[in-house]
Amino acid sequence: MAKSIPTILAVFLIINLMNVCTAKDKVCTKGWECKSSTYCCNQTISDFFQTYQFENLFPKRNSPIAFAAGFWDYRSFITASAKYQALGFGTTGGKKMQMLEVAAFLGHVGGKTSCGYGVATGGVEAWGLCYKKEMSPSQKYCNPDYLYPCAPGADYCGRGAIPVFWNFNYGVVGDALKYDLLNHPEWLEQNATMAFETALWRWMTPVKKKQPSAHDAFVGNWKPTKNDTMEKRVPGFGATMNVLYGDLTCGRGDNDDMNTLVSHYLHYLDLMGVGREEAGPHEFLVCAEQKPFNPTVTSPSSSAAT
Ligand SMILES: *[C@@H]1O[C@H](CO)[C@@H](O)[C@H](O)[C@H]1NC(C)=O
Ligand SMILES: *[C@@H]1O[C@H](CO)[C@@H](O)[C@H](O)[C@H]1NC(C)=O
Ligand SMILES: *[C@@H]1O[C@H](CO)[C@@H](O)[C@H](O)[C@H]1NC(C)=O
Repeated sequence: MAKSIPTILAVFLIINLMNVCTAKDKVCTKGWECKSSTYCCNQTISDFFQTYQFENLFPKRNSPIAFAAGFWDYRSFITASAKYQALGFGTTGGKKMQMLEVAAFLGHVGGKTSCGYGVATGGVEAWGLCYKKEMSPSQKYCNPDYLYPCAPGADYCGRGAIPVFWNFNYGVVGDALKYDLLNHPEWLEQNATMAFETALWRWMTPVKKKQPSAHDAFVGNWKPTKNDTMEKRVPGFGATMNVLYGDLTCGRGDNDDMNTLVSHYLHYLDLMGVGREEAGPHEFLVCAEQKPFNPTVTSPSSSAAT
């Protein structure tokens, strides 16, 4: 009996040494979230953001009066995020930055899909993911476009987790993700994974070359130029609104659209246990004084061109 102890120790040591030696090229798998990839060995989103937290953030989404009841779920968010986690979404920086980024992204999602205005119970911030589609579009959002002509009868109204509008934008994101969204814009109201995927693509992709993506502007990958500084664009949540919505939201002083997004972000930080004080100074949080990266010229559909 006494003799077997050193053997056990030796085996233990050898196994540990083997782990150290192979750690560099280690490939991990986390079930459906993460398949055979090196980044899966690191902390991923589901390690710090789990189903119950998703439920806490979006508690009213399946209420009978929510317009998208039964549509949105945790699994579709995590599934959609898998390929972007490999590119840094929710996996950049330490655990705090990872959580801040997930809260920021979901802050946009919640703010853009909330139906809580005037509904009262729980406050506006409890009603994120209430919509999956614009309810009474006043137009078809079809602009003449050489690359992305409107499909006959198609309607390019707002759909998704960070809603996509206009034939041009459906065309661009459809190309990027290899979904024929130009001919099937309705897929974004039928498939929650696709709806999150298009939002994550937008978050991770610069609108124009040499500009930051919302992700880059948020996690600190972006170094502002002199022009950026002159035009008061600074890294942070404010800059993510600038990237995503330009002068629809930013450079207009204090406004409801901006404040709704900020309040969702801060609320989610509280619910995730990070705490809103971790969001940093107000000037980085808002974009009231920021000039837009891409000022709207005439048609919002072509503002993302080139
Ligand atoms: C894993 O985390 C470390 C430390 O944060 C980081 O340097 C490394 O790039 C990460 N690996 C992958 C594959 O993401
Ligand atoms: C939704 O889209 C995802 C991503 O393309 C796909 O894997 C899945 O099968 C789709 N789900 C349905 C029900 O069509
Ligand atoms: C800086 O801003 C000015 C005025 O908006 C513009 O004309 C110029 O091209 C910008 N420079 C760079 C390097 O972006």
